[in-house]
Amino acid sequence: MSSMKLTPALRIIGRLQLPGDKSISHRVALIAALATGVSKISNYSTARDCASTLACLKQLHVPISWEGETLLIEGMQELRASKEPLDCGNSGTTMRVLAGVLAAHDFTSELFGDESLNSRPMKRIMEPLELMGARIRANDGRPPLKVTGYCKLHPITYTLPVASAQVKSAILFAALGAEGRTQVTETSPSRDHTERLFNGFGATVTSKDLSIALDGPARFTGGAMKIPGDISSAAYFIAAAMLLPNSELTIDGVGLNPTRAQFLSVLSSWGADITTSDLQSERNEPVGSVRVKGGLGPGLEENDSKLGRSMIPSLIDELPLLAVVGTQISGGIEIRDASELRLKESDRLAATAQNLRAMGAEVQDFPDGLAVLGPTKLRGAKIDSFGDHRIAMAFSIAALIADGPSEIAGSECVEISFPEFYKILSSIVVT
Ligand code: S3P
Repeated sequence: MSSMKLTPALRIIGRLQLPGDKSISHRVALIAALATGVSKISNYSTARDCASTLACLKQLHVPISWEGETLLIEGMQELRASKEPLDCGNSGTTMRVLAGVLAAHDFTSELFGDESLNSRPMKRIMEPLELMGARIRANDGRPPLKVTGYCKLHPITYTLPVASAQVKSAILFAALGAEGRTQVTETSPSRDHTERLFNGFGATVTSKDLSIALDGPARFTGGAMKIPGDISSAAYFIAAAMLLPNSELTIDGVGLNPTRAQFLSVLSSWGADITTSDLQSERNEPVGSVRVKGGLGPGLEENDSKLGRSMIPSLIDELPLLAVVGTQISGGIEIRDASELRLKESDRLAATAQNLRAMGAEVQDFPDGLAVLGPTKLRGAKIDSFGDHRIAMAFSIAALIADGPSEIAGSECVEISFPEFYKILSSIVVT
């Protein structure tokens, strides 16, 4: 296990482009594998999680190669059984969404993960996929999974009990092989990449209010795509630039899908100087530039300091970072309705609270969230990443605004979503 030492920073200065979005990369790889023709994908995510998706697809006999920096995926329309179990690594998206794909295939597949993934809940995908006619065996609702698919699944009308884009996507991928209309209803809007990309690659999905419908069977047509930069990776640098006065940072070509970019509005409501420009679209995914200038505006109105309810799914991966930023906000912030965070790569509520306390912040815990007091000067501390990339990155940003050196134990876990994180951070930090 390696640890990263970080010292306080003066400001952030730079202009960047980032590797492709993780959520979009997983989905585009799966779509390309099921499509007709060859897909040429540039700026595919460098995350270890997205390499897990490609490795699983290769085991399912999909021809995948690189031409320089461009990923080539030959569409198979139908996958072929793997003799060996499929290793999903640390990636919940790989396991849950691929299970949806495999549910529509007439063979049995085994999927397993690392210690963290093998402890995460899978009943949420098992229930709808079994209603559609697949058979899934698990270890008390957790991986490893044995998925026996069926090429003539039944369409379902299903309301998601948890707001989860992974579960919604698993059902929509399975629905491609079902005869008739599958309808999924969400209680709060989660990231909608699957809906946008299905339409972008020729399989029509309609969305109205919180219901999404797909008429199966449906097929994709492969093609080229440049994956937008990862907005969840950008979030760490944006927060650092906001927190350090006299910073100026621009990130070009970054994904600005509204179901992912909500933290920009939250930071703006907290007084950040953030502007977006050069908006374009890549297969229905909004892309553009984000510019941040350092320094915070005046204190919050009370209703801006609370994050909860329907906002949570579109902020889900940024919540540990927002808790860190919250320690610098006049009046502090409160996060509620976020018990899903306890079921991520680590218990992110517990990990965030423990590390914030180690840095001298005052934190109140709730079963579904936490509250932090602010503004508080953070002190340099030993941080435990809990092997969780988002905890390591959120507290690396906290370390930049602390009053002394910090050390992030297990910092190598950033590879799960953003292997270049420390290299890029050191290129924009002025100490
Ligand atoms: C993801 C959805 C989210 C998110 C995860 C990626 C996706 O999980 O936390 O990092 O790509 O669909 P849930 O949908 O389970 O909340």
